Amino acid sequence: MQPHYEFAGFMGKRVHLGVTGSIAAYKALDLARALQRADCMVSATLTKAAARFVTPLSFEALGASPVYTDMFDEAPGADTAFGHLEPGQAADALLIAPASANTMAKLAFGLADDMLSCQALAFAGPRIVAPAMNPRMWAAPATRRNWDMLGELGYIRVTPDDGSVACGDTGTGRLAPQEEILVATLKALAPQDMAGKRVLVTLGPTREPWDAVRFWSNPSSGTMGACVAMAAYLRGADVTVVAGPTSLVFPCGVTVTPVTTALQMFEACTDLWPDMDMACLTAAVADYRPVPFGDTKFKKATSAGAGITVQFETNPDILKTLGGSKREGQKLIGFAAETDNIRGEAARKLESKNLDLIAANNISRQGSGFGVATNEMYVMDAKGRKEQWPQLPKTEVAWRLWDHLLLD
Ligand code: PMT
Repeated sequence: MQPHYEFAGFMGKRVHLGVTGSIAAYKALDLARALQRADCMVSATLTKAAARFVTPLSFEALGASPVYTDMFDEAPGADTAFGHLEPGQAADALLIAPASANTMAKLAFGLADDMLSCQALAFAGPRIVAPAMNPRMWAAPATRRNWDMLGELGYIRVTPDDGSVACGDTGTGRLAPQEEILVATLKALAPQDMAGKRVLVTLGPTREPWDAVRFWSNPSSGTMGACVAMAAYLRGADVTVVAGPTSLVFPCGVTVTPVTTALQMFEACTDLWPDMDMACLTAAVADYRPVPFGDTKFKKATSAGAGITVQFETNPDILKTLGGSKREGQKLIGFAAETDNIRGEAARKLESKNLDLIAANNISRQGSGFGVATNEMYVMDAKGRKEQWPQLPKTEVAWRLWDHLLLD
């Protein structure tokens, strides 16, 4: 899983995982582990059919507790008389993954003829459903109707993926990627304190072409920005990412505008900014671009064995431009990648770019800056608050940055 999905900090939250009869049932074990890495407690119910594919013991061995199977089972640690009500009283979210066509039908019509369907009916909190089935079953009118009904009943629905399924058929029906299901669940657990906010995030490097094959760039992986984007998304914001070239994948709820050069990033950001409430620019934008040699490949022979001189021209400063056109109520966060005089540079950029908050990292420090999953930040805001944070996962840094900006 890419690092921007590894949000911990859901300590004290319990997710009840419902597993139904599908070849994808084994993937629920990985989901349980991913939820535990987010610090969630996990309990589970396996339908009879699910228990033919994976065993309750596998979930218990991973630390899920209690693990229910039959209505009249005595699950260790469970309320044996009222097990069908217990998740509704004690869990914070109910996640049914994979959900078979049969279970979807039961949920849609409110049937309660086994432990999982009883528990779902008695569950008043957020319910997430991630189906998996044969594409023809998924396309069947009855399943389409049940899917719509689940939406009307308030289920958070994670649409299955396209591709080939176990029986050899191809189409829609594969269990959605783990990241999509995890994010839908964590979003249901997270405070929605950024709901309704439109947030712009830039991330990654830019690439400034010189000839047909060469470009000027830097080692940004985009992870820091991806964490900032995901934290805002989990907290309910409507997030648009302007991404330089990276290999990052985002959940389908995040809008991604891919760009390559600083000029393209500038165009995209200046277009989007007037409609945004907040922006956080983490991208490592090239301050200069080479004056292009041309559209063809520069041939070594043409340099006749001597060195070459490449000319550079200045790229626009995106952050400064957004700061300069900031309207009342808009909030702007900038980053600073420094090797020395971090505090001085942070203060200078905060002021000169009209920012509300600046996050400066020492990129020469191990475990900080480019290409790693952690960062060490010095943060200062326009109200004069200054904080030095220890080395933290970038997910945690991102969460804290929004906390800091939302402070009054
Ligand atoms: O992507 P990762 O591998 O996770 O690495 C994270 C990071 C090191 C890239 C990130 O933490 C970081 O420090 N990002 C800012 C990098 C940078 O370009 O810093 P700067 O001090 O040169 O720029 C200051 C600010 O102005 C930044 O918000 C930058 O996005 C912005 N800027 C810079 C130049 C430019 N032409 N336009 C800009 O908007």
